Amino acid sequence: MEPYRIKVVEPIPVTTRQQREEALKRVHYNLFDLRAEEVTIDLLTDSGTGALSAAQQAAGMAGDESYSGSRSFYRFHETVTELTGYSHILPAHQGRAAERVLFNTLLEPGKLVLANTHFDTTRANVELSGAEARDLPCPEARDLDSTHPFKGNIDLEELRRTLTGPDGSRVAVVLLTITNNGGGGQPVSMENIKQTSALCRAHGVPFFLDAARFAENAWLVTRHEPGYQDRTPRQVAEEAFRLTDGCVMSAKKDGIVHIGGFIGLNDGELAQRCELLLIATEGFATYGGLAGRDLDMMAQGLKEVTEPSYLAERADIATHLANRVRSAGVDILEPPGLHALYLNAGRLFPHIPAHHYPGHALACQLYLEGGIRSAELGSLYLGEEDEEGNPTKSAPYELVRLALPRRVYTRSHYDHVGETLEKIVKNAGSVHGFRITEQSPILRHFRATLVPVPVTG
Ligand code: F0G
Repeated sequence: MEPYRIKVVEPIPVTTRQQREEALKRVHYNLFDLRAEEVTIDLLTDSGTGALSAAQQAAGMAGDESYSGSRSFYRFHETVTELTGYSHILPAHQGRAAERVLFNTLLEPGKLVLANTHFDTTRANVELSGAEARDLPCPEARDLDSTHPFKGNIDLEELRRTLTGPDGSRVAVVLLTITNNGGGGQPVSMENIKQTSALCRAHGVPFFLDAARFAENAWLVTRHEPGYQDRTPRQVAEEAFRLTDGCVMSAKKDGIVHIGGFIGLNDGELAQRCELLLIATEGFATYGGLAGRDLDMMAQGLKEVTEPSYLAERADIATHLANRVRSAGVDILEPPGLHALYLNAGRLFPHIPAHHYPGHALACQLYLEGGIRSAELGSLYLGEEDEEGNPTKSAPYELVRLALPRRVYTRSHYDHVGETLEKIVKNAGSVHGFRITEQSPILRHFRATLVPVPVTG
């Protein structure tokens, strides 16, 4: 059961099918353009959408809004230092701000960043600095149905080969994203973190974590990794941070705050250079684009997030939804993680070709049938077309992500998701695909407009 009770509630909008049909037409079938008040259950992201605890709100009230050297900064600094052990902590307003400051300082054209999988803003920030972002996911990650417990691992053989090969001298950073959001929210094992750490040390390459979901990763380590069953998630997280040279953190996930993030570093000279860019573009080094109250709420959230009772319930509710989804007849990327489930839309709609976007078709059906908002992670997100609109590249899989906001929805909300999927599965053969009518040159899924393509045959 939930290790909390509800003190403040927010009504959720309930709409009719006809209203949703009209809303979809109005936004040209782009779910990003819906107004939140048109969405009943919003599973678009787990980022910045969690519920604050009473203790976090109280911490926020105690926030010190001094421009520099606030008490809030020192409380935040102490909490993050205890958790991570890094010598230098720089607050930033969110994960991508931390990425921009770090990568602009550390990288330059010609350099190479190796990761298990870069999250899309991480990749964008690496590329904006002129460097190359290369993903080296482990081979198990390619099999969506495999229940291997650590499909978020980096491919250590590939990593060794790259570090010792002709590209070795170009490698500026090795980055492990825990859990691996771009790879289905799968965790990285401590063994993989240790071996990566040893390889990086041997080659003199800095090793960083993208720690957005560090506590969820630690929980899965305590569940599935030999030798870690008797450790607390907090102990595992502390050990993971200490195997690295630094981290970038979006606290909108495992800080359970609406806004916040930080950079952690051991290299004093690098920290000084990052600090200058931070001051010029985010804010002074003791607030980094945040209010004092945000720093205090983040510090409190970072303490709550490693509580075993909180993580156990989060895992349990994800398993509950996974079971509902499977029994509705929809396959998911196995095994289910904690922050999201990834539905295999390609398998559900074999009659919809990749260039008619089966994932987008499922996301639109989830909205139409149940008022549920999700995120397509298939060919609309990753595919490309030439100027005449002919498909030139499709995604390896057609997925839809149901992200689970922290402490927000209950099991009966997720039962509604299961029931909606049951309805969709019954008429799966009649679900139609889409065609893009307008798109932007980059990040097209945010701004594309689409029209339905009727089912033929
Ligand atoms: N790294 C990871 C692994 C992420 O999942 C995200 C954001 C970021 C970095 C960037 O952090 O949003 O605070 O700037 N992921 C969100 C998502 C947006 O929906 O998965 P941010």
